[in-house]
Amino acid sequence: MARILLLFVVSVLWPAPVDALEAAWWSSIAQLSAHYTPNSNNLLGAKPFCSQLTGLSPGQHRICDLFIDHMPAVGQGAQEAISECEHQFKQQRWNCSTPSGSGYVGPIHKRGTKEAAFTYAILSAGVTHEIGRRCRLGLLGSCGCSEADRPDNLHKDWTWGGCGDNVDYGYRFAKDFIDVREKEKSFPKRSNDHGRSLMNRWNNEVGRRVTKKLTRPRCKCHGVSGSCNLKTCWMQMPTTRQLGDALVSKYRTARRIQINQRGNMQIVGQPDKRDKSDFSKQPKQNFKSELVFLDDSPDYCRTDIVAGTTGTQGRPCKRGSSGPDSCDMLCCGRGYNTFTEETHSKCKCKFQWCCRVVCQTCLNRTTVDICK
Ligand SMILES: *[C@@H]1O[C@H](CO)[C@@H](O)[C@H](O)[C@H]1NC(C)=O
Ligand SMILES: *[C@@H]1O[C@H](CO)[C@@H](O)[C@H](O)[C@H]1NC(C)=O
Repeated sequence: MARILLLFVVSVLWPAPVDALEAAWWSSIAQLSAHYTPNSNNLLGAKPFCSQLTGLSPGQHRICDLFIDHMPAVGQGAQEAISECEHQFKQQRWNCSTPSGSGYVGPIHKRGTKEAAFTYAILSAGVTHEIGRRCRLGLLGSCGCSEADRPDNLHKDWTWGGCGDNVDYGYRFAKDFIDVREKEKSFPKRSNDHGRSLMNRWNNEVGRRVTKKLTRPRCKCHGVSGSCNLKTCWMQMPTTRQLGDALVSKYRTARRIQINQRGNMQIVGQPDKRDKSDFSKQPKQNFKSELVFLDDSPDYCRTDIVAGTTGTQGRPCKRGSSGPDSCDMLCCGRGYNTFTEETHSKCKCKFQWCCRVVCQTCLNRTTVDICK
């Protein structure tokens, strides 16, 4: 009896994981797209490309077959999202990686954590971004430059009509392709999987919206010799770095949710009182652009293949730093080893008449601290 009870408790605390292989739709697209160019040869053999992708849902497979020329964009968008995630979190205990040897690229999340929220949002933003960019470049069969209307507040003398990034098409395609997998499964309401699916869709939408919101008119001068009396303007998407920065600040203020009796998402009051009262004052619209999560984060200090955490062993840390990259924080109190790295380089080069350059070899010693 005690054992059954324990099992029950464990399965409540650790929600049944969404199958990791299935959840990581981005992994094989990001890996395969690197070797795929949509030239005529490849298009003739299009089917094999989609069937090589693992982790796609049936709906995603159909979209892959129909929009095969979009897939390298999806792959590159996913890859750029993962690189940006790694950049943004390189000083944190969670560094956006999955234990090596798993065969996955990018982070895998079994639980609906804040980190999962960030991952879904940035992947969805990355795909929106790359599709919108390729539309502008004329690389995709079914879209072209942005058709956005001239903004009302644009100076009347300026020309509207440069070829802009097509963020609207990117938004729609990313929504269809990424969200379809969440819609085709019918989980019982109030089940953990249903909750996780709602969470994923919400965070996917936040990623796409951020991309759209940061897309702005951009103008270029062209007048007589450097004067700026003529301007042409068009829509330009943010850089991937700007997307990463925006989503990291949303990650920091992510809202915890729970699934209520009717199977809908509901905000859970934050333990911090001030935060809670702030939220109740916020208009509902603001909450629309917040990231949401269901579960506590696992212990990112430890390596745990099942939880998908790499641990922090072997990570370089900074002695004396007061941030999360300090050896105290990053090594989780286990301490660190200090190594000396020696590099040789050419230096003190002198020009000798005529005609050669003579250099000395210098030794550069630096120390690195690595978490135990
Ligand atoms: C993240 O940390 C793990 C564990 O130290 C390491 O193996 C991995 O290469 C790191 N990932 C990145 C992107 O630096
Ligand atoms: C020595 O190496 C460090 C770290 O790689 C580098 O920042 C520094 O510029 C190098 N110094 C010289 C003299 O090359």
